[in-house]
Amino acid sequence: MKGDKSKANDRIKKLRELIADYRYYYHVLDESIMSEAAADSLKHELTQLEEQYPDLITPDSPTQRVAGAPIPGLHPIEHSVPMLSLNDVFNEVELAAWVKRIKKFLPPSARLEYFMDLKMDGFAAALVYEDGILVKAITRGNGRVGEDVTANVRTIESVPLRLRGAAGYEHFLKGRTEVRGEIVMYKADFAKLNEARALKNLPLFANPRNTAAGTIRQLNPKLVAERPLHFHSYDILRSDASEVATNDFAYKAMRKLGLRANAATQLAKDTKGILDFANQWEKARSKLPFNTDGLVIKVNDRSLFTRLGVVGKAPRGAVAYKYPAEQATTKVKDIFISIGRTGSATPVAILEPVLVAGSTVQMATLHNESEVKRKDIRAGDTVIIHKAGDIIPEVIEPLIKLRTGAEKEFKMPLDCPECGTRLTKLKADDAVWRCPNNNCPSRVWKRVQHYASKAALDIEGLGEKNIIALVEAGLIKDAPDIYELRKEHILGLDRFAEISATKLVNAIQSTRNPPLARFLYGLGIRHVGVQTAVDLANRFKRLDTLGNATFNDLRMVEGVGDIVAESILFWFEDDDNRRILAKFRSLGVWPQDVKTVGGKLLGKKIVITGSLESMSREEAAEKVRMLGGTFQSSVGKDTDYLVVGANVGASKLKKAKTLSVTQITEKDLVKLLQL
Ligand code: IVH
Repeated sequence: MKGDKSKANDRIKKLRELIADYRYYYHVLDESIMSEAAADSLKHELTQLEEQYPDLITPDSPTQRVAGAPIPGLHPIEHSVPMLSLNDVFNEVELAAWVKRIKKFLPPSARLEYFMDLKMDGFAAALVYEDGILVKAITRGNGRVGEDVTANVRTIESVPLRLRGAAGYEHFLKGRTEVRGEIVMYKADFAKLNEARALKNLPLFANPRNTAAGTIRQLNPKLVAERPLHFHSYDILRSDASEVATNDFAYKAMRKLGLRANAATQLAKDTKGILDFANQWEKARSKLPFNTDGLVIKVNDRSLFTRLGVVGKAPRGAVAYKYPAEQATTKVKDIFISIGRTGSATPVAILEPVLVAGSTVQMATLHNESEVKRKDIRAGDTVIIHKAGDIIPEVIEPLIKLRTGAEKEFKMPLDCPECGTRLTKLKADDAVWRCPNNNCPSRVWKRVQHYASKAALDIEGLGEKNIIALVEAGLIKDAPDIYELRKEHILGLDRFAEISATKLVNAIQSTRNPPLARFLYGLGIRHVGVQTAVDLANRFKRLDTLGNATFNDLRMVEGVGDIVAESILFWFEDDDNRRILAKFRSLGVWPQDVKTVGGKLLGKKIVITGSLESMSREEAAEKVRMLGGTFQSSVGKDTDYLVVGANVGASKLKKAKTLSVTQITEKDLVKLLQL
């Protein structure tokens, strides 16, 4: 057995090699073999191991140096004033510490205001104008010396070759004016570029920033002109600094002079104001045309900013407020098979807990056997995890170079790990293996969980843990069994006391005659979601009628295609399902028939955009459905009304306009929903 230190040394060596590869590709070849966040995550692990074993630190470790190699062929030019970098803050506490620190350096009388802009994920450049004419464009380089990329930058449409004259700003057209900003490639342009490359079988670019950087730093201006790039300015410098007293004014001046600057800037008085702005953009940023991973916050008064000075390579008077990274690296501890409600056998990675996008991730679905094989994910691998906002975390890829040989290749089991039944595929070319045993314990508790879930019977107190306990105690074998549960049975389990047991039994008993749509959805028929269940209920009115419907009857229902119709037929023909229905019936648990001949909104299709004040989207959707209408998630040709709430996205409104969909207000909706 190897000792811990020797194991750490092996890992350190591997991490260093991979990080060195990343840096070489990134800085020298303008290519990216992984995201910056993933590389940061690896550097973090390396730093931790080196902290634990300081004698293993070598001078060539990536933790010990900062540098990048210049591209040969571009002429170096020294910056008039260094192009600095920014220190990062990641949360409220670090932000408050920054504010406190700068206040220490300033007299108490100083009135501090903070200027905020989005931090664009692009490539920094300085434009030098002499008497209003563009004479030089220089990359950031190492901050002190950059590269001459004038010919390339001249091809960018948003860079004025001559500054515009504007009343009150004439002096900027005299002498030297330097404008700094970020060269960005928009996400949509990047996607198009890669699509075109894919068609031509050319290697794909890694991300918009690298593509922008690579484009600007190559030697053929014609090629640059073919790639859509934009320049967003964030700073303007004059030899007499007093001409630009605040950053707020700098942005105004840049716009007056014909330069593009972000419209989303704002001033804040304190950390609360900064955090409000940060929160406002955290979600909305995905809708921006360019990538951004945070904000830049600068002291607005530029004389105070200068007074605050520079520490290392970063000004004290500014910080980058970074959103939580959406990628990180971690280890796959194991891969297990999760059996779903419909029997699907899904490989799931158990991960060493890792913080991604603000929350801890310890599991990620690997979707199916072929996906695991395609990505070659093995137990023991270090992998890159991606998670954005509320989306389900995903394993992007294993870092093959970090393998030790002890990783275990994934093998799909032949039998269901829960009940031992041989796994099958519905069709030979299906990606998904299934456990065909309707009574498989995992399928049972997931079925009951689905039946009790909010959108189905909405039974309070019947969550995952309680259901598993009831199944394990042998008290329930399927959804109908819950109606036979008595307080005395439940009290025998550790999880329950007198009150909670009574509450649960009452909650269950109150759902004996549910609305047909909810019951139908609760049965968990494959491909029957909430809306389809509502449409089926409105069409067939009674469960028995639906159970006897033919393929053609089913196909007549809106939104029911061949696959859904087949799945419904299949469900009602299955013996186990018939037994379940018979049991419900014998217990007197049965859905109400749909009585309304059709509500006020029968046949109407409604989309809500933005947020509503008087109700949640879910409430609105439920009411629309109750009145016979359809709640759609996005505007289509057949949409009847678009309800425009607060904070509306421009894209939905634009689409509604082009499709000439009637737009109504929340008030109009409330009127429509009145019985
Ligand atoms: S202001 C002291 N504003 O971020 C530098 N920079 O990490 C202050 N960046 O090199 C620059 N968006 O290239 C500023 N709205 C923005 C920015 C921005 C992106 C880049 C810039 C700088 C880097 C610092």
